[in-house]
Amino acid sequence: MADLRTAHIEARLKRYAEEQGDPVAAVMAAFYARYPDAQANFCHHSPGNPAKLEAEMVGNTLYYMMTCFESPVETRIYFDTSVPQHRVALDVPPDWYRGFIEATIEVVEAATPASSRDEGAAWSDMRGALVGLVERNRFV
Ligand code: HEM
Repeated sequence: MADLRTAHIEARLKRYAEEQGDPVAAVMAAFYARYPDAQANFCHHSPGNPAKLEAEMVGNTLYYMMTCFESPVETRIYFDTSVPQHRVALDVPPDWYRGFIEATIEVVEAATPASSRDEGAAWSDMRGALVGLVERNRFV
């Protein structure tokens, strides 16, 4: 059965896109304000075009925001691989991984108020789910 929370995630993202356009610049500004050292990592892994890698990671984050309720097992399996992989192979510590997800969520939430209590609750659940999946892999 479809999880109604997915519709709430998608609806707010759609309103954000209609009103604000592409979120990448705002997400990266919020993320780098908290983790300035991370900018060098994006430049290191994508020399000449860090903006491309930045946009890909925002896209990946949006994907898991939209699919975590419909595909919780797949999302968990993915994070169990990706969080350690980013830490070990890409020098991306779990704090950055978590902070990137939180920056993406907060940019949308700040610009696009929740239209209902249920929508706000779905966003809160989604943040808790994704942060929890990072935290369970913090020391893996
Ligand atoms: C926090 C800053 C982050 C940095 C610096 C970063 C960096 C990278 C790099 C360098 C790659 C390899 C790209 C390639 O080989 O073409 C990659 C792959 C990937 N990243 Fe990130 N990433 C970050 C956060 C995230 C987050 C928050 C997510 C998802 C929620 C994510 C999801 C992915 C996915 C799906 C891939 C491709 C497959 C894989 O290697 O797992 N990344 N990332």
